[in-house]
Amino acid sequence: MNAPILLIHGFPLDRRTWAAQAAALSASRRVLSPDLPGFGAAPADPAIRSMDDYARWLVGELDRQSVDRVSAAGHSMGGYVLLALHRVAPERLAGMALVSTRAAADGDDARQAREAVAQRAEREGAGFLAESMPAKLYGSTPTLAALDALRSIIRGASSAGTAAAARAMATRPDSRPQLPGIRVPTVVVAGRKDGVVPPSESEAMAAAIPGARLVWAERSGHLPMLEEPELVSESLASLP
Ligand code: MLT
Repeated sequence: MNAPILLIHGFPLDRRTWAAQAAALSASRRVLSPDLPGFGAAPADPAIRSMDDYARWLVGELDRQSVDRVSAAGHSMGGYVLLALHRVAPERLAGMALVSTRAAADGDDARQAREAVAQRAEREGAGFLAESMPAKLYGSTPTLAALDALRSIIRGASSAGTAAAARAMATRPDSRPQLPGIRVPTVVVAGRKDGVVPPSESEAMAAAIPGARLVWAERSGHLPMLEEPELVSESLASLP
């Protein structure tokens, strides 16, 4: 029997972005796909200020669900959280999938932009991200229904959760030194047309992790779990 799989969503999204994979994988293993604090149905948690805090919150979630070890998939910010989970509790991981994510930290410009997002979210809520973000995330023009669904997910993010996540991403450490120490089976999934995480960063990340497999989602931008759901489900199904 495979280990349960933990699906960690990106920013400013929620567990629904993993719906296709949760449905596909639930026939063969237990699936945990929590909303991170401040997103979807989960209330914000003022104690969360860093990626390591999200990771410790997830360890608490595993404990609450009586789950010892999981394979875990992290999309984008969820990948930052997954690398943090590997830092704080590597013994809880049986395998990893890093989806449309990166190991490097933010530069100064990105940090300033995050703070601007955090302050605007605190002033007016996360709604403005629902207008500005989605079109940039797809590799090809999404259907109106897909765009609406994504916008409604983003509108569900709380002000406090969005601000906390933006600041936690801004202050996340460079995880690249950690990559050669990853000892569990790992798959890196990258959208060939990703405008948020350049494909070259995914390539470098996969090359730095011993034995990692790199899977290209050829038609995808930053959302391969929505744009090429079967490919992503198959990639996750390969984890122990
Ligand atoms: C995400 O999809 O989680 C974010 O775009 C990640 C980021 O802004 O670095």
